[in-house]
Amino acid sequence: MTEPGTVLITGPTRNLGRHAVLAMAERPRGRRPDLLLVGRAGRDLTAVADEARARGARVHEIGCDLSSLADVRAAAATVRDLLAAGAVRPLRALVANAGTMSADTRLASPDGYELTFAVNYLAHAQLVGDLLGSLTAPARIVLLGSNTYHANVWRKLLGVPEARWADPVELARPATGEQAPGMAAAGVAYSNAKLAILYYAHELQRHARAGVNVSVFEPGWMPGTALGRGAPASLQAVSRALGRVPGVSTPRRSGPLLAAMALDDTWAHLRDGAFVVKTRLTEVQPVAHDRDRERRLWEATAELLARAGASR
Ligand SMILES: NC(=O)c1ccc[n+]([C@@H]2O[C@H](COP(=O)([O-])OP(=O)(O)OC[C@H]3O[C@@H](n4cnc5c(N)ncnc54)[C@H](OP(=O)(O)O)[C@@H]3O)[C@@H](O)[C@H]2O)c1
Repeated sequence: MTEPGTVLITGPTRNLGRHAVLAMAERPRGRRPDLLLVGRAGRDLTAVADEARARGARVHEIGCDLSSLADVRAAAATVRDLLAAGAVRPLRALVANAGTMSADTRLASPDGYELTFAVNYLAHAQLVGDLLGSLTAPARIVLLGSNTYHANVWRKLLGVPEARWADPVELARPATGEQAPGMAAAGVAYSNAKLAILYYAHELQRHARAGVNVSVFEPGWMPGTALGRGAPASLQAVSRALGRVPGVSTPRRSGPLLAAMALDDTWAHLRDGAFVVKTRLTEVQPVAHDRDRERRLWEATAELLARAGASR
């Protein structure tokens, strides 16, 4: 078994990310990684860091609002400094867990990008790009996908629309004008960001050096998490109730599965953006494999990230 080194995780403050952190911190000493927790600074970040320390893990809190690319770059610089100072063991895994579903697709990030696309996709592309050279092989990059990218049965039941792909520069542009009531536009933006993550994962593997493996994890539908916090109260109440249905995924059940994606030998072979739904390696739909879209996304992402850097 590879020495567990250090694992960086975004979105550690609640639900899936928090349970993944606790599952990693609870591992026996020789299999327990150092943890870099990248999340919005404040009480929640400190609380999860303390919980992980209480379980024996060495933890660094790195305050970062992922909606701001300047913040993301600063977080990556902090990680590089910690590694250079030997304050943590070699970086073996980066888990891009944070996510949001902005209820209003007209909202822009500080860099001027649609908020869901900015947090779920662009921030992680920046972070991964800045830290790709800091990973020590064998290393893993685990991105968070969602089956909402295509027309699956849960999506239909929930009324979350499937992705409607467009050029990434368009996807990054906040909507204008009247927004239709309900969560339809928010759902499309969310599904688009998750389809972007699949395309990115495939392309990223082509750019990563040998021994750095890219995979995508789908935790199963976990109703009642904070992802839907911008939704109407009635919808949130239904979602919370569904979260109590036996057999439905929960952060408590899926968190350890995400931890396993980062650490367990079972998943050491995953690469090329292999898609795991909970514990099952799954073939993605044909729409999620598209060399032209993958290449274009890579190129447009570089433009979008550079534009944000240049405007400061
Ligand atoms: N829930 C599901 O059914 C489901 C299904 C498939 C995939 N997923 C994916 O699984 C991941 C975790 O989902 P979840 O349900 O646990 O979501 P959640 O309860 O909403 O937690 C999201 C995490 O992301 C963080 N985050 C959001 N915006 C951020 C920002 N601007 N800066 C820094 N951190 C930010 C949150 O931090 P704060 O505490 O500061 O808000 C929180 O830690 C997401 O990528 C999601 O898309 C979820």
